[in-house]
Amino acid sequence: MNYFIETIGCQMNMCESDKLGLALSTYGASKVNILQEANIVILNTCSVRAQSEQKAFSFLGRAEEFKQDNPNTKIVVIGCMAERIGSKIKRRFKSVDLIVGSKDIDNAALKIADLCNLYDSSFNKIEDSQNIVRYVTIMRGCDNYCSYCVVPFVRGRETSLNALDILKESSLLVKNGVKEIMLLGQNVNSYRYKDFNFTSLVKNLATINGLERIRFMTNHPKDLSDELIEMMATESKVCSHIHLPMQSASNKILKAMNRKYSYEHYIDLVKKLRIAVPDISITTDIIVGFPGETKEDFEETFKAVKEIRFGGLYVFRYSPRPNTKAANMPDNVPLEEKKRRHRLILEESNKISIEIVASMVGSVQQVLAEKIENGVIEARTRGGRKVFVKGSSEKDLGRHLNVSIKEAKINSLFGNII
Ligand code: 5AD
Ligand code: SF4
Repeated sequence: MNYFIETIGCQMNMCESDKLGLALSTYGASKVNILQEANIVILNTCSVRAQSEQKAFSFLGRAEEFKQDNPNTKIVVIGCMAERIGSKIKRRFKSVDLIVGSKDIDNAALKIADLCNLYDSSFNKIEDSQNIVRYVTIMRGCDNYCSYCVVPFVRGRETSLNALDILKESSLLVKNGVKEIMLLGQNVNSYRYKDFNFTSLVKNLATINGLERIRFMTNHPKDLSDELIEMMATESKVCSHIHLPMQSASNKILKAMNRKYSYEHYIDLVKKLRIAVPDISITTDIIVGFPGETKEDFEETFKAVKEIRFGGLYVFRYSPRPNTKAANMPDNVPLEEKKRRHRLILEESNKISIEIVASMVGSVQQVLAEKIENGVIEARTRGGRKVFVKGSSEKDLGRHLNVSIKEAKINSLFGNII
């Protein structure tokens, strides 16, 4: 049996797709990268934006077409949309065989195995070729109820997973060759399990021999503690990167978004982080065109982007999501204006990114070699930038390399091993 898995959305979804793939391989199924070669087509969905849901519908249209000529194919939809509008999907796409919502995601492999008559064959080799970097989920759900966000409704209440299980899972991964762990949660800063908070969890992980790097996401500015900033400064395994969604720099809009911090607080965190970790790359998320966002509010956000000089950012046009508080606020920024604001932020951020990467040409960066393709190593700096390295080989996988940066493009650097 071959399975194809399409993943839409955040790192959490990537992680869940990876885990599902691993579980399916223990049932003897093999992963394929082309839909037409699959007997099981799986779609992992996202509900955060209307656009992500549109993407899922068009993928299902293609999968359904394929199934018409290959009626034995099974189509499975998992994740946030499956949770939110599973029955609607089933009504619209009659060929879908199985729906597994995000709250039930741990049972997805078992359900797929039942559907496709896969049998547990633990003797099967688990295919997991280039496994230098792995995601580890430490929390589920979210309790923050940002007024625009559908996540608390589809993923449910925030729960922190057992710290001892996380440590065990991570040790096992490292024993199997993993060098970098990315900890995932909607708001890792509010992690709490018995005596563990997020900082102590990371400190314990850092004691695992053979683990070289730790990253984490996502952070919430209202919960990011001085203790964590201090730990980032002192713990050498923790990477110099933080994703800290700002969303807006207008205090009026932040309040309407229910973000529970002010712009002044955000800037204060940026300053503290840069003092504690001088080479840190701070990345962010921004929403433009939130209900009530005036030109002046937008100007504040634009100015902040210019001044803070993020290492990278994602900018989204606001779209109302069902059940959220903001969906009852008049969505009063015209689409054309949302597009304009989106373009302005993107252009400014691209300009800054190009300046940042250009300033890295000529420097030596310590990178971790993650993958090899056609003889070129794909690696990452401590700040999270992708570097393509010449003059390296398979034996360098999983190693730290010192690379002299020769060329820079907006999303990647190119260099030679020294
Ligand atoms: N409209 C636009 N962007 C959104 N995001 C979340 N909900 C919405 C929405 N309704 C963005 C936020 C969040 C990121 C994952 O997606 O910026 O940080
Ligand atoms: Fe959504 Fe806010 Fe929770 Fe992030 S913190 S998942 S934006 S509700």
